[in-house]
Amino acid sequence: MKSDGGPRNYRKDTLLAHLGRHPEAQHGAVNPPVYHASTILSSNMAEWEKKRDPKTRFDVVRYGLLGTPTTFALEEALAAIEGGHRAMLMSSGLAAITAPLQACLKCGDHLLMVDSAYGPARTFCERVLTRCGVATTYYDPLIGDGIARLMRPNTKVVYVESPGSLTFEVQDVPAIAAAAHEAGAKVLMDNTWASPYLFPSFARGVDVSIHAATKYVVGHSDVVLGAVITTEEMYLKVRTMVADLGHCAAPDDAYYALRGLRTLSVRLERHERNALTVARWLQTRPEVSRVLYPALPEDPGHALWKRDFLGATGLFGMVLKPAPKEAVYAMIDALDLFGIGSSWGGFESLILPTDPERLRTATRWNAEGPSLRLHIGLEDPQDLIADLERGFYQLQVAMAA
Ligand SMILES: Cc1ncc(COP(=O)(O)O)c(C=O)c1O
Repeated sequence: MKSDGGPRNYRKDTLLAHLGRHPEAQHGAVNPPVYHASTILSSNMAEWEKKRDPKTRFDVVRYGLLGTPTTFALEEALAAIEGGHRAMLMSSGLAAITAPLQACLKCGDHLLMVDSAYGPARTFCERVLTRCGVATTYYDPLIGDGIARLMRPNTKVVYVESPGSLTFEVQDVPAIAAAAHEAGAKVLMDNTWASPYLFPSFARGVDVSIHAATKYVVGHSDVVLGAVITTEEMYLKVRTMVADLGHCAAPDDAYYALRGLRTLSVRLERHERNALTVARWLQTRPEVSRVLYPALPEDPGHALWKRDFLGATGLFGMVLKPAPKEAVYAMIDALDLFGIGSSWGGFESLILPTDPERLRTATRWNAEGPSLRLHIGLEDPQDLIADLERGFYQLQVAMAA
């Protein structure tokens, strides 16, 4: 897009291809170059002073920690895709969770945290926020507008993650946000599952959107990166805390994420299609008790997902019929295409056993048998199905032994 300031009303896929690129400023290069910079020189003291103007301190290139043209380019694109005001990058998705919580909470405040949150987010509440005098109450992910009953005069943040980590419950984010705002609290959302592309969080009432860009934004399992996107109202509060804590992202990582972002929508479309093919097949298997994937019409969260999301990604869960751990491990070990490893959102398929019950405190996770999390990659889904069929065969062999 030409930088002539002209009106731009492009659709999201067009923006994905063009945002954050300023070829005219880079000798015509299509992609912004990687700026490796800590010190940024000023040509005189007047310029030095100008760069320190508190009103524009986060808008100018003045020290590597506070951003370079490479990180600014990614931030510009991420904020526009999700419909937020501004974005900021951090070294990990976990840092993108903890820094906004620190920005919005102080000693004596109360936090409402969803019971199905990403495990390390809970650990942060328990190990760090308690030491800072912040009390956390965990709530049922399906609470909806019932959240109003849990609000206290000192509740400053309601934290949502939808679908929930490991168990994939869809939250009624607009209802929760309305109740939170009515009581004067802000809504922070871990929006990693949908990525900035598939859940327009700000249109649904969210104040601060959190992303492990490590997953679908980067999309190639080779970078750890976090991003926070905020409303205009929340921007300076969160950005200042991020700077005060010394968070930043490496320029090479921002570059890889920008590269990943260009193909985000085409990758997500294929992840969804493949995941639906595999999930539907899993529903027919006698070894499977439930598939936890809101894109399936039988999923209890399907109606809310359809109302609020623009699509699904490749990450879902399944609950097996009762089976001993050894048999489940034999099944996983028999797989050829599904990797065993943390994280998800790359081009490849992954599988892991999970233990959601261990993390819960406000609700019970009553699974009939062992739980697993699958990430469906960009392989041919028929090959993935054949692989899982091999796995189920080994499960049966191990059960019979
Ligand atoms: C939902 C969710 N949020 C946040 C994170 C943290 O991301 P990172 O690994 O980049 O710290 C993860 C990582 O698995 C995640 O699954």
